[in-house]
Amino acid sequence: MNIKPEARKIECDFSKARIDWIPKDPELAQFWNAVSIGLPLLEGYLIRALAKSKKLLPEDREDLYADCELFCKQEANHSKTHMAFNDMVRGLGYYPEMDKYTDKLRADYERFDREYGLRHAMLYAEGFETAGPIFATYFLVQANKRLKDNDVDLITLSLWRWHLSEEFEHRCCAFNVVEALYGTYWGRVGGIMKATFHLLGFAVPLSEYMQREDKKAGRMERGPKAMLRKLSSYSGMFFFITPRILRACTPWYNPKNLKAPAGCEEVLTIASETLDLNKMAERARETIPA
Ligand SMILES: [Fe+2]
Ligand SMILES: [Fe+2]
Repeated sequence: MNIKPEARKIECDFSKARIDWIPKDPELAQFWNAVSIGLPLLEGYLIRALAKSKKLLPEDREDLYADCELFCKQEANHSKTHMAFNDMVRGLGYYPEMDKYTDKLRADYERFDREYGLRHAMLYAEGFETAGPIFATYFLVQANKRLKDNDVDLITLSLWRWHLSEEFEHRCCAFNVVEALYGTYWGRVGGIMKATFHLLGFAVPLSEYMQREDKKAGRMERGPKAMLRKLSSYSGMFFFITPRILRACTPWYNPKNLKAPAGCEEVLTIASETLDLNKMAERARETIPA
């Protein structure tokens, strides 16, 4: 990519954003909404890990120290923007038990901090950051298709496109820190498994709960057609992500060799120019690759 990595502090107004932001795929939208609800807690854990680790790097790794600083700033910006989205979701009052799920996730990270220490946190961070560019590629491919639909909510779509494009941008940081401090192949594989299953263990039950509430209230369609749609979108995501996660578990994997997903550079360029999610939404269709 030809764009200089930077921390983009993004203005946002979610008052007109929709929770059913992919009307043709509402179950998939609820999956991503559930991920969003957990992200500030998860990213807080990663920021703490990288902020501590940068102080332990060898003295000649000023480059990596600077990468850690950028990583922490970008993740803090992601959390802040997702918190604004999550406040919009919470404010709807549709999901009264939502906080039970986040309380459990918060307790998990507090326990990880208390019981497992920095090595665990860094391997978890690296595991999550391995999934980041894969989800970025999946999301940008899907998002580029959805941009052609007129009824998609471009504000929420732009939140994820910006966030995941920055995930691609800082994909090497946690990997390089783990290499510099621990250099452990099996630890890296363990971190990928731990972070992936831990995040899914939070997001799947929460998104299922949100969908049950939606169906009870008549906000979401029931029946075989809806079930087939969900099966198709979830299995599409599974079959895209799984082989790439397995490839990331090979000893020769290095995130620096990954190809930027289509649209990533365009999304980041507009993000740098506007620093405003609502303006990014207005210009979202400019980023569809020819
Ligand atoms: Fe992030
Ligand atoms: Fe990240």
